[in-house]
Amino acid sequence: MEFTALQKEHLKEVFELANNTLGNNYITSSYLKQYLNSKNYLGFVLLENNKVIAFISIVILSPSTLKKMVLKENDWFYKLAKNYPKIALQKQTIVNPKFTNQGIGTKLVKLSIKEVTPLTDIQLSTVWKKEGDLAMEKLLLKNDFRLIKTIQNYWYKDSLNNNYNCLICGTPPCKCATEVYIKKNALVKTSAFS
Ligand SMILES: CC(C)(COP(=O)(O)OP(=O)(O)OC[C@H]1O[C@@H](n2cnc3c(N)ncnc32)[C@H](O)[C@@H]1OP(=O)(O)O)[C@@H](O)C(=O)NCCC(=O)NCCS
Repeated sequence: MEFTALQKEHLKEVFELANNTLGNNYITSSYLKQYLNSKNYLGFVLLENNKVIAFISIVILSPSTLKKMVLKENDWFYKLAKNYPKIALQKQTIVNPKFTNQGIGTKLVKLSIKEVTPLTDIQLSTVWKKEGDLAMEKLLLKNDFRLIKTIQNYWYKDSLNNNYNCLICGTPPCKCATEVYIKKNALVKTSAFS
């Protein structure tokens, strides 16, 4: 299995994977293109026989760009991150359904953390909360992330504005919640947890 930075030739497979696992049109090809050869938009894939079986995306942000990028609770995010010049925001983590529950998601997150840790001060992850599916939560907890907040209706307005379907809610609006995780090694440096 090969871990590598996202390349142009992976885009089509990642796009299909995202449509099948996150919902139609949630990820667009122009969104994915941002992750090609960028210092701040980092995309990684795992390849098996040259086929993409998993994808992860991370954006490196300043506190003010984080505040602009998140979809709700912007001030809370800003307060959480304001003491850190470089914040890694883990966005999508996707494993091809044929390969799930075999440790691939855990491996992908571990490898991407290794890349991102030297470049950033803290790492955040916003996780789509799905009833009865704890895979992403377990995976993050194993990798030293800790849950700090649940935000209801996180994609509500965004799904209407950008007209994407949710695999759970169907056509917009999406009423799913997100869970915000932070890497434990940041705990000593901020008062946002008290
Ligand atoms: C979330 C996701 C990335 C996990 O990938 P994965 O390769 O299955 O993860 P792992 O095999 O490393 O498993 C992580 C944990 O979840 C558990 N798990 C994974 N799939 C499971 C399933 N179907 N049923 C029960 N437990 C499951 C594993 O047993 C493991 O638990 P452990 O730490 O106690 O051993 C994958 O399910 C996925 O792509 N989901 C769709 C997209 C998505 O929702 N992404 C997250 C939000 S962006």
